[in-house]
Amino acid sequence: MNCNIAVIKGDGIGPEVVTEAMKVLDAVGKKFGHTFNYEQLLMGGCSIDKYGDPLTDETVAIAKSKDAVLLGSIGGNTQTSPWYKLPPNKRPEAGLLKIRKELGLFANLRPAYLYPELKEACPLKESVAERGFDMMIMRELTGGLYFGERYTKEIDGVMTAVDTLTYNENEIRRIAVKGFDIAMKRRKKVTLVDKANVLDSSRLWRKVTEEVAKDYPEVEYETMLVDNAAMQLVKDPAQFDVMLTENMFGDILSDEASMITGSIGMLSSASLNETKFGLYEPSGGSAPDIAGQNIANPIATILSAAMMLRYTFDLDKEADAIENAVKKVLEEGYRTIDIAKPGEPQVKCDEMGTLISERI
Ligand code: IPM
Ligand code: MG
Repeated sequence: MNCNIAVIKGDGIGPEVVTEAMKVLDAVGKKFGHTFNYEQLLMGGCSIDKYGDPLTDETVAIAKSKDAVLLGSIGGNTQTSPWYKLPPNKRPEAGLLKIRKELGLFANLRPAYLYPELKEACPLKESVAERGFDMMIMRELTGGLYFGERYTKEIDGVMTAVDTLTYNENEIRRIAVKGFDIAMKRRKKVTLVDKANVLDSSRLWRKVTEEVAKDYPEVEYETMLVDNAAMQLVKDPAQFDVMLTENMFGDILSDEASMITGSIGMLSSASLNETKFGLYEPSGGSAPDIAGQNIANPIATILSAAMMLRYTFDLDKEADAIENAVKKVLEEGYRTIDIAKPGEPQVKCDEMGTLISERI
């Protein structure tokens, strides 16, 4: 198969981890007879530096013409980087929100799985970590607070900031359907996470999701308030299969879920639209504090490349090969700094990429 991929390495550790994912993809290509054609594009701080814009329309057009986008991370230190002196719509994050919106990537899948080998890296107490967990956070990605009207202005002499949380039933239905479809391929349970005791938008989420649930009688469906969900994630994460939620709650809960897998460097993600097109990126950020040191964990990005093979190219066997290679290196005891126990030997970012590609 001939796969055309836009590669956006981005800022911070992005270039380091994406380079390793490409190394692993090339190993897959070699073994299974596929060609991965990459076109590198700029987004985020590096695009600001070159074009004065975190994401140009030309870049969006090129990305759209490909089968998929492989992304590293964007952004820098919000305290010290000059990018954060720019107006909000010119900062690195604006590029990320623009590409999500322009490509219609409404469904963000973030699988949080505790590898048995990493139980000791899990910050939860042993009795909880012992049971393991395997959940899919389905985060709505193009609506809600992130894309509602916002402004800051003086009202009656008082500075006031407004952000609006809007959802319509169609936006909710399409992600709910995706959530139930994915649950059917997993343990057949969907937990809708909301704040229906306070928010109108959450009450609409419940109404629409309940309707969708009727079409999936085999799937166990429950609702959970978001504050309770935050608590349950650290108390009993094994209870979750598919966690379906709106944009902002999903942002927060996916960081929490990633941390209990041992490290945010383990959490991959896929952002999908109605077609096979997808954008694949690690859930973690650009980590400017460790950028350029070759110590970042590339596994989240490598697993995101596996998700790309599975969801965009229907190459399940090849995706399995990547996931098994990751399991293998962990079993063999190789660790990057973020998942190493005190005193355990550590491998660098590029070594981890090589070890995984050698096991394809
Ligand atoms: C994420 C990130 C982004 C988000 C930021 C960088 C805008 O935290 O992908 O989770 O909030 O969506
Ligand atoms: Mg986030």
